[in-house]
Amino acid sequence: EHQNNENIIWHSHHIDKNFRASQKKQKPCVMWFTGLSGAGKSTVAGALESRLAEMGYHTYLLDGDNVRHGLCQDLGFSKEDRRENIRRVGEVAKLMTDAGLIVLSAFISPYRYERQLVRDLLPEGEFLEVFVDTPLAECEKRDPKGLYKKARAGEIKQFTGIDSQYQVPEQPEIHLQAGGVSVFELVERCLLSLNERQIIH
Ligand code: PPS
Repeated sequence: EHQNNENIIWHSHHIDKNFRASQKKQKPCVMWFTGLSGAGKSTVAGALESRLAEMGYHTYLLDGDNVRHGLCQDLGFSKEDRRENIRRVGEVAKLMTDAGLIVLSAFISPYRYERQLVRDLLPEGEFLEVFVDTPLAECEKRDPKGLYKKARAGEIKQFTGIDSQYQVPEQPEIHLQAGGVSVFELVERCLLSLNERQIIH
């Protein structure tokens, strides 16, 4: 059973996130990549992180496949488990913005409701939803891990886009129409948007 929190009082420390980030001349934020399996979330987020690192920014990439080996290793792909996955990652991303970082997260995060919960965890302007909009047919053609094939054969149940829902973002801060566009170009679009928002300079 959880203890009531009334005796746990928030401690405001002297060094805050703006100070931590200003050491690096950046503003903290979460770039929340969402899209189908195989859409290119990890690829684009990873390439963007490399560019930011080259430019001297301090970043962290939270990736679904990796987090599911540790923090979320007890979770599967039911609606409840995906919800808990996103909730935990959202909290971790928030802690990382508090450390002053530019956080890139790459999770399918198929439900609007959970993405909104993460958005609501963060101050206005610190959550940037990045919709990696690659058509299902293209993701299925790529099928880098052979998972669509297995899902079609009924060997994997509740696979996103096949027999589990993906709810398209309605107003993403960044909409990457990713089919047939190079990773380089997609990264450029992200960098432009970070510049416009004065997260980087
Ligand atoms: S979620 O929905 O946000 O909790 O998913 P996520 O943590 O991003 O994990 C997605 C990766 O897990 C693999 N995988 C599945 N995806 C979707 N549905 C089912 N049933 C499933 N089973 C395993 C898949 O490789 C996803 O990787 P990406 O990188 O998205 O292709």
